[in-house]
Amino acid sequence: MSATDLTAWQRELRAQFPIVTAHPDVAYLDSAATAQKPQPVLDAVLDYLTSENANAARGTYPWANRTTVRIERARDRLRAFLGDPEPNRTGVHFVSGATEGLRAIARDWLAPQLRDGDEIVVPHADHSANIVAWQEAAALARARGDRVTLIPMPYDAAHDYDAVRLADLVTPRTRMIAATHVHHVYGNDMQVTRLRDAAGPGVPICLDAAQSIGHLPISLDTLDVDFLVFSGHKAMALPGTGAIWSRNRRGPAYAPAGWAGTPNTAGIVSLAAALDWLDAAGPERIAAWTRDLGARLTAGLATLDAYEVLGCQTSLTAESTVQRRQGIVTFRHRTISSNDLGFILAADGFLVRADGHCQGDQGEKTASVRVSTHVHNTTGEIDRLLTRLADLNDG
Ligand code: ALA
Repeated sequence: MSATDLTAWQRELRAQFPIVTAHPDVAYLDSAATAQKPQPVLDAVLDYLTSENANAARGTYPWANRTTVRIERARDRLRAFLGDPEPNRTGVHFVSGATEGLRAIARDWLAPQLRDGDEIVVPHADHSANIVAWQEAAALARARGDRVTLIPMPYDAAHDYDAVRLADLVTPRTRMIAATHVHHVYGNDMQVTRLRDAAGPGVPICLDAAQSIGHLPISLDTLDVDFLVFSGHKAMALPGTGAIWSRNRRGPAYAPAGWAGTPNTAGIVSLAAALDWLDAAGPERIAAWTRDLGARLTAGLATLDAYEVLGCQTSLTAESTVQRRQGIVTFRHRTISSNDLGFILAADGFLVRADGHCQGDQGEKTASVRVSTHVHNTTGEIDRLLTRLADLNDG
């Protein structure tokens, strides 16, 4: 697809986001926090709520039965979206988002299996949700008298996982490796296909895909992981929607403990619609578009000496074949605090995230500004942002 075709395609998709078209002076650049919703997703929710809204798996009347069917279909839809090669042997459980999903796996699946002397590899420079969950599993084991050690995931100088050092850290007592698909601060694809070689055949891997779902193609055929967790609201579904996908290859089948109660039916309907929309839009094209926006922004920032861009410097250009950064770019101004910069940019209609981004304790020590893009963002928005940042270059 040529650049012109890609631009025409992008324009057509942008027009489908009512909140974007209603606010032409606003550049929404915080999709890593939550994504905007295209009209077909909103239509699907309205259609469901105004035609056959009912509780699922209860009741004998048609609306209730059809709601149950919608939920089962949404599970299959997700498996198809993820390229699940064994859909009859995997589980899909809907949760409120990645945080709840990670905690549920740690609490309900991992913690009961942990024994004295076991180890969990934890990515301490990633999102805190992917750290706290495993700390909780270790604490549950400790409360029973079993000491479990959290082994820090090794990183290299480019903030990527160091798969060679990881292989040395894996022992017969390693019970889980927790990893992240796309880093929420640096935006880099963490190249998780390398983790299975490092882990060996027997160690379960849990992947936080919160920043990759809807942003780049995902194929479980090539990702030999045991769990994949994500937040649907970052994938254009409603807030309070997410899922745990699990594969019953290493250890017992995942089964959530306790009562689940009424499912988030409207959220699950929105997730199925969002996956339809994303598949039709084309994850490869979305990845290409947002990577180019990220490269455009980082190239512009490189000309402004007041700014420090965080992350792997070799992946900042469009030409780089090394560890390509997705559409997330995080930076600091050398004299203006990141929170102030966030307020300044918001006043001009640039909606970015400015804080510590809930990064773990081996992450950045001071706040930064994160720009995260999606398919509705334009090169014009990035250029306008760069012009405003250039105005502030002299502090
Ligand atoms: N986890 C979300 C983020 O990175 C909220 O902004």
